[in-house]
Amino acid sequence: MPMAEPVRLLVVCLGNICRSPMAEGALRHRLAEAGLDHVDVDSAGTGDWHVGQAPDARAIATAARYGVDLETLRGRQLAPADYTDFDWLLCADLQNLADVRARRPAAATAGIALLTDWAGTRLGDGAIPDPYTGDDTHFEAVWQVVDAAALGAVRRLRGGRD
Ligand code: 4NP
Repeated sequence: MPMAEPVRLLVVCLGNICRSPMAEGALRHRLAEAGLDHVDVDSAGTGDWHVGQAPDARAIATAARYGVDLETLRGRQLAPADYTDFDWLLCADLQNLADVRARRPAAATAGIALLTDWAGTRLGDGAIPDPYTGDDTHFEAVWQVVDAAALGAVRRLRGGRD
């Protein structure tokens, strides 16, 4: 079988310490499990408050319950180069989507979408609510949504649409 072209996915949220690192971890886990090793995954925030920081302790603890290690991830801010370095910028909520679209450089080549739309797992408005000011139940709910999206990503990428 010919080697598949790499697919590069960047998940984007606001702080890059809760939703997008959890989605990054879930995607890495489900893609590895499915043997889709031609897919690269990273995450970034539209904001810069948590650059260089590890994910929120509640995000780390939630992912760890599902066997996914987020401890080595570090926050970074969305950069202009991301619009050409990645194939898809996959946003956690509608504000993230609006911000990512508004910052789009003229040379951008990446597709921009809501993560749950892209993955075919949208429920309601498709947004992943920000759990930062919430409690453990909010982080657990985020995990369920990002893990469902990760399984949707496997289905989409297996189908060869990207
Ligand atoms: P995230 O959550 O966007 O899912 O990483 C947030 C984390 C931090 C902040 C906002 C949202 N903050 O304002 O510092």
